[in-house]
Amino acid sequence: MKATFHGHACFVLERDGKRVIIDPFLTGNPAAVIAPDKVPHLDAILLSHGHGDHLGDAVALSRQHKATIVATYELAQFCADRGATTHAMHIGGAHAFPFGTVKLVPAFHGGRVEGDETGRYTTNPAGIVVTIGGKTVYHTGDTGLTLEMQLLAGRIDLMLVPIGDNYTMGVADAARAVEFVKPKSVIPMHYNTWDIIKADPAEFRRLVGNTSAVTVLKPGESFTLP
Ligand code: NI
Ligand code: MN
Repeated sequence: MKATFHGHACFVLERDGKRVIIDPFLTGNPAAVIAPDKVPHLDAILLSHGHGDHLGDAVALSRQHKATIVATYELAQFCADRGATTHAMHIGGAHAFPFGTVKLVPAFHGGRVEGDETGRYTTNPAGIVVTIGGKTVYHTGDTGLTLEMQLLAGRIDLMLVPIGDNYTMGVADAARAVEFVKPKSVIPMHYNTWDIIKADPAEFRRLVGNTSAVTVLKPGESFTLP
């Protein structure tokens, strides 16, 4: 399986011609190097939460690719009401899709949905655990450090973890999260998009030490899981 970083918290996972995108914030993302209409065919769109820097281009991409948006119930409903194809789930539940299995796990963060003027789609933010071709990726979403992460210890091949601080974990807490989860590999995300989330991935790598193999990707770069 190949994971391509598209800046901020956006990743594309692909294997055997199946392709899923996580948190497709491309329009307005200063770190993105691909336009939303240039994204190759997508089978699914996985969303951690409804903030604008994660929901991003999800609805437009769903309509363009007839790709299913997988999200918590309220966020899925918001997208469905705007013409997207959706599959609603919730924290703790897993579902097997043609491309692989998705499970939503806890994340501690805000639940407002960007563009929802009524507030009726406000939801719980989530982390996403996705297994494709026997490899399991944990995208933590936006979250603080939490003991819930220990439930995933030893079960994760690749962890995608925010290090930008202010809205999420910073480098020190992110390194502790890696200790909790003990993934084989880890890629830092959600930093340097704006000045307020400036962070040094080299410092994160130092703090992780031998716990896990850290790969730092620039937007557009890929990592192939060993
Ligand atoms: Ni957020
Ligand atoms: Mn965010």
